[in-house]
Amino acid sequence: MKYDPHKSGAQYLEDLATSYWYASALFTALDSGLFEVLRENNQLGAEAAAGILGWQPGPTERFLRLLKEMGLVDVYEGNWYLTGLTADHLVDGAPHDQRANIRWRRDLRAEWDTLPDVLAAGTRTLFPSDDVSEADMHARRVDYLKAMDAVIDGKIAEMLPMFTRALPENAAVLDVGCGSGKFAMSVLDACPSATADLMDIRQMTPITRTFADAWPEAVASRAQTIDQNILERPWQVRRPYDLIILSNIVHATAEAESASVLEEAATHLAPDGILLVHDFFTEHDPVKSRLSDINMMVNTYNGRAYSAKWTADTLKAAGCGASAFLPLSTDTGVLFACQNEARLGDLALDPVAQLIPKIEALGFADAIPFPAGDVVFAPFARNKCEYGCRSAYDKTCVSNRDMSYDDTRTLVGDYHHALLLCSEPPTGDFQRRCLAAEAEAFKSGFYKAFVFWAGPCSICAVCDPETPCANPAHHRPSMEGCGIDVYATVAKAGETLHPLRRRGETVKYYGLLLLD
Ligand SMILES: C[S@@+](CC[C@H](N)C(=O)[O-])C[C@H]1O[C@@H](n2cnc3c(N)ncnc32)[C@H](O)[C@@H]1O
Repeated sequence: MKYDPHKSGAQYLEDLATSYWYASALFTALDSGLFEVLRENNQLGAEAAAGILGWQPGPTERFLRLLKEMGLVDVYEGNWYLTGLTADHLVDGAPHDQRANIRWRRDLRAEWDTLPDVLAAGTRTLFPSDDVSEADMHARRVDYLKAMDAVIDGKIAEMLPMFTRALPENAAVLDVGCGSGKFAMSVLDACPSATADLMDIRQMTPITRTFADAWPEAVASRAQTIDQNILERPWQVRRPYDLIILSNIVHATAEAESASVLEEAATHLAPDGILLVHDFFTEHDPVKSRLSDINMMVNTYNGRAYSAKWTADTLKAAGCGASAFLPLSTDTGVLFACQNEARLGDLALDPVAQLIPKIEALGFADAIPFPAGDVVFAPFARNKCEYGCRSAYDKTCVSNRDMSYDDTRTLVGDYHHALLLCSEPPTGDFQRRCLAAEAEAFKSGFYKAFVFWAGPCSICAVCDPETPCANPAHHRPSMEGCGIDVYATVAKAGETLHPLRRRGETVKYYGLLLLD
């Protein structure tokens, strides 16, 4: 539902007016236990589901039809079942349980109903009543942190590859306004020598500790909590930090206070430390960030949405260099700041840089980013393969013959990015690594990923040269066999390669992984 001045008319307005219908249907399905009923009972018709839930069969069928169109359930031969979306997010034990987040949004309805009053008063008007018992307050805090934990769950995996490789051994991490602590705990999980201080108000930190202790002992034992109201400066911390996380906290207060939090955080950075600000920013997903801004208005004392530009400018005023704003694939984004601006260069802020550690983890000595336009073509390369190599006309080099010199130039010309994959024999292992690299790149979103390897195909343990290839899906051309001058190409990446002069000399293998 996006406003388009060329298209939006009465229908758009009606869709805005009925958008709460979606939410009501979702809350009803979740709160009724319908999803659990469908999960626990195979072959369940609408009438049987209605019987279990105490509903009328006809309306139940109609409600299920709506949920089907919303992608939450499906039906086969009259039996209703959960879609993958619901099974993954909306039932007990789901791998990415979002129920606490959804219920928290449901309960914000009361605050949203005060919007006219808030606009008139200029401030929040609905506050928790004074007569809530401490036990109830505690239960509310637990629910809130469960909701925040669910919100951050899907976002951390996208951010970790941006900075974990830039952290030193024994990195000290500070998570400011940490909530459940999931962000810092995920960093500890990824960086086995790191330690973390989880900072929140004293009413929250006992709950934070409970969340932290649910992690494996080897991770939980490297985290401790710090009680600190971050509006009271200076913060009582014991050390400078290599990484300071400010996730979904800058929006919690008014401009002067949020600026003060950013300034204070900057003073606790180690000289090469990295500050990470994750939040909803007004440059990204404008409607959602403005809705979040109003959500802060009705639901907090003086929180609001900020622009990434304001955040970067505030950090610059605090003596830090800031990265460009990086929108995530969800409704939030991240930016980094460092006192030592050169450290921003150590971060992996583009998708190719984030792919490199995954590729190296497959066993490559190096994966060097390489502009596809730098690949050097030369007619001699194919000739070297055809004349002078005993595999020249073997089945193991069939891809090279199928792909002409011009085909190769056209194909490579269609890409912007590549990784030069550096490795060593045995040939079969190297080629299997190349195939795994191509698959990893594809899974990471580089849907055009294609790899050239080196040498005759050595994938299968046994290859009958007389019969057609039994494994064509795992066959790729070699760079040299398709007309790429491997010597000149790798030289452009700063690598050295020279013809082997004697037996026993170290053999270098290079593959070319085309991306985009
Ligand atoms: C929206 S949650 C974010 C939690 C976590 N950083 C995340 O991204 O999931 C905000 C957290 O900041 C904490 N917080 C709010 N105001 C604070 C203050 N003045 N001092 C310390 N913590 C505060 C809250 O208790 C809560 O845990």
